[in-house]
Formats: sequence, structure tokens, C-alpha cells
Amino acid sequence: MSKPSNTAFSAPKGVPDYVPPASAEFVAVRDGLTRAARLAGYGHIELPIFEDTGLFARGVGESTDVVSKEMYTFADRGDRSVTLRPEGTAGVMRAVIEHSLDRGQLPVKLSYAGPFFRYERPQAGRYRQLQQVGIEAIGVDDPALDAEVIAIADAGFRSLGLDGFRLEITSLGDDTCRPQYRELLQEFLFSLDLDEDTRRRAEINPLRVLDDKRPHVKEMTAGAPLMLDHLSEEAKAHFDEVLAHLDALGVPYVVNPRMVRGLDYYTKTTFEFVHDGLGAQSGIGGGGRYDGLMEQLGGQPLSGIGFGIGVDRTVLALAAEGKTVASPARCEVFGVPLGDDARARMVVVAAQLRQAGIRTDVAYGGRGLKGAMKAADRSGARLALVLGERDLEEGVVGLKDLATGDQRPVPLDDVVAQVGAFLGEG
Ligand code: HAM
Repeated sequence: MSKPSNTAFSAPKGVPDYVPPASAEFVAVRDGLTRAARLAGYGHIELPIFEDTGLFARGVGESTDVVSKEMYTFADRGDRSVTLRPEGTAGVMRAVIEHSLDRGQLPVKLSYAGPFFRYERPQAGRYRQLQQVGIEAIGVDDPALDAEVIAIADAGFRSLGLDGFRLEITSLGDDTCRPQYRELLQEFLFSLDLDEDTRRRAEINPLRVLDDKRPHVKEMTAGAPLMLDHLSEEAKAHFDEVLAHLDALGVPYVVNPRMVRGLDYYTKTTFEFVHDGLGAQSGIGGGGRYDGLMEQLGGQPLSGIGFGIGVDRTVLALAAEGKTVASPARCEVFGVPLGDDARARMVVVAAQLRQAGIRTDVAYGGRGLKGAMKAADRSGARLALVLGERDLEEGVVGLKDLATGDQRPVPLDDVVAQVGAFLGEG
């Protein structure tokens, strides 16, 4: 259904916009989280926004809400079923296999940032287009690597000044102990008085039932057997080593043996970062090992581990802590030309300043001095360059400190150096 031609459009339901000045915060958060991955040697991977639907069905798991209820799936004009990516790991695996990255140096370390799509019920912190920064380390099954991945997320959050979060961690076991645990859990669940839907879920993926938020189900499953108590010797040793590495790194954690992630591919180390200032949607990041995923998607039997951090929720978490990371200033210098000749010269001066790496804007549209100075103040700039017709004749420009109001003439020929010196001092 299309809108009547004279009404304004709004963004699709549950999809956030980031517009200035708030968008600066979004970018600073995303870049800060990405930087933490860069510092550990993760290379950028840019993935398609949509993939074959089958990739997610097979990779993420048919029993998950993400696949069964939340995917944006449609037939393209060639009648292929495609899906807007609901998460990043399956796509990364597909690309690693397709480009044979797994035939080179291991681990393959990749990071990505961008939008993902889930048809969830929108609420505070839960969007239908969500932004993540993620990393994946593929091909080495080493507890030290698990700890590295977790420590990168922790460092990323802390580099933004965030500290009101906790890391929850558990192990979901491996090939040798999971099947037995699954049987044990199913045995327990089938002894309960479950409704038909829940019973079916218990058949497909019994772990999902432990994630059921309904109070009566929670109560019934309170005494369910836990994976952590039934780990194989190897999985237990792996988990203990991860924790020892985290201790050595000074990354605090709490073990949560009842953690259930929303995606089916996890094995062994599994974790979530939870922020207390966010209400119901408290997960600011999560991840874990997925040792069977590559093989399941037609590749070699290689292990992998990674995380996805929710950028939107990290922005909200910072706000909840009353913190900001972005500078509110759009530019450092604001040019105020008075008259056409002055404007023509100011445009050139602005280009020279930008070339020197100084963020500069100019008052356009022939505004008077008052309006232009107001614009200079609003821009957040520290300096205004005031250029009148007389100044132009004399070859000078007024350098005005917007904090103190002091103004002095400087030679137009030397303006880049003078501005640079002023900003350097401040
Ligand atoms: P995930 O836990 O589904 O994991 O998502 C990661 C993060 O994305 C969540 O912790 C949350 O902060 C954010 N997020 C998820 N859904 C929404 C939403 N509807 N609105 C706002 N934020 C949201 C994954 O996606 C895995 N691919 C992570 C991973 C990478 N595991 C291994 N490697």
C-alpha cells in the first residue's frame, strides 16, 4: 500500500536513524569497538547484506527464533530465495570457504561492522535493523584464542569508558559430551508436563527450553541437568584454561551455567556481555565457539570463535552511564566571510585548512555577521575566521577565539600555520 502523495514518510517500524549530532556518538562507538579488533590483527571483511536463505537456515539453525520467525526472506526477481543477513558468522564462514582463506595461515582473523536484520518486536534497545561490530577467528582450537576474543570485546567496551557491564560465560560442551547431555536433558524435559509446542522444541533443541521466559516453565526446569556438570574431560580442561587466561588478563567474569544463546552453532566456550542499565534488552554483546559450523556449511572441519557486539545497545549503555565518547564539535574552525569577494577567498582558505587536516566549515548563503557568528557557535568550533572586504584588501583575516571572544588579525598568507599553532596550544 502506498502513502497518499502529500504525507511525509517515516523510517520503517523498529528501525533507528542516527542523525547529527547523535550520529557522531554512533560512529565513535563503532570505530572504538573496531579499533580493539584492529589492535589484535583482525582484518576487515565486507560481506553482502543478503545471502541465499539456505545459508542461514543451515548455519544458524532451524530451531532458532532468528531463523524460524525473524528473517527478512523474499524471492528476488529471478525467484531465488534470499534473506537479509540476521547475523554475521554464517556469512563470514561462507566467504572464508568460497575464497579458500582457510587454506592459508591459521587462524584466519576477520572483523566486520554493519547492519543486520531481524523481524523482532521493536522495543527500547531492540531494533529490526541492528548494527554490530563482530570478529571471527577461524581454524585454531586454543583456549588462549578464546580468551583473546573475549578480552578484545572487554577492551573495546572499556576503551569507550563503559564499566557497568558484566561478562557471563559457560561451556556448551563438545561432540563427545553434548549428545549424552542432550539425551539426559530430554529425559528430564519429557518427564515434565509440557505443552505441545515446548515438547516439540525439546525434541529439536532441548537447550532452547531452558531459555523459556514463562514463569511456570522456568519453575519446572529449575532443577534441569546442566551441561557444565556433564562436560567431557577435554571440554572441561578447555573451559578451565579459558578462565585461567581471563584471570591472567584481568578480565572479570561470572560463570552462568544456564546461559542459552539464540543461535544453534555454539560449542564449548560461550559468553555474553550484559549491561544493567538497559532494562530487558541487556545483552550488549555475545559470542562463542562454533567448532562444527564450517563443516556444516560444506567446508573443512575447522573450529572457530567470535563475537558480535550490538553497537546500538552500546550507545544506549553509554548514555545510561551518563557518558559520551564523541566530541560534540562538528568542526574546529568556522569561516565567516562578509561579502562576495571575502566568501570566494574564504572557500579557498577552508580548502587549505582541510588539506592540513583541520576540520573547517564556512558560513554560506551570504548571512550577516550576527547570523554567521551564531552558526559558528553552534558548530562547536574553537575558532572563527572573520574576513571582511577591508581585511581582504589588507591581506589579513580576524582570528577569533570563540571561548574568550578575543580577536586578532593574522596575515592571510600565514593563516594555516597560525590556526594550526592556536589549535595545538589549546
Ligand atoms: P547475537 O547474540 O545474536 O550474536 O547478537 C550479538 C549482539 O547484537 C547482541 O548481544 C545485541 O547486543 C545485538 N543485537 C541482537 N539483536 C538485536 C536487536 N534486535 N536490536 C539491537 N541489538 C541487537 C550474533 O549475532 C552472533 N553472530 C555473534 C557471534 C559471532 N558469535 C560468534 N561469532
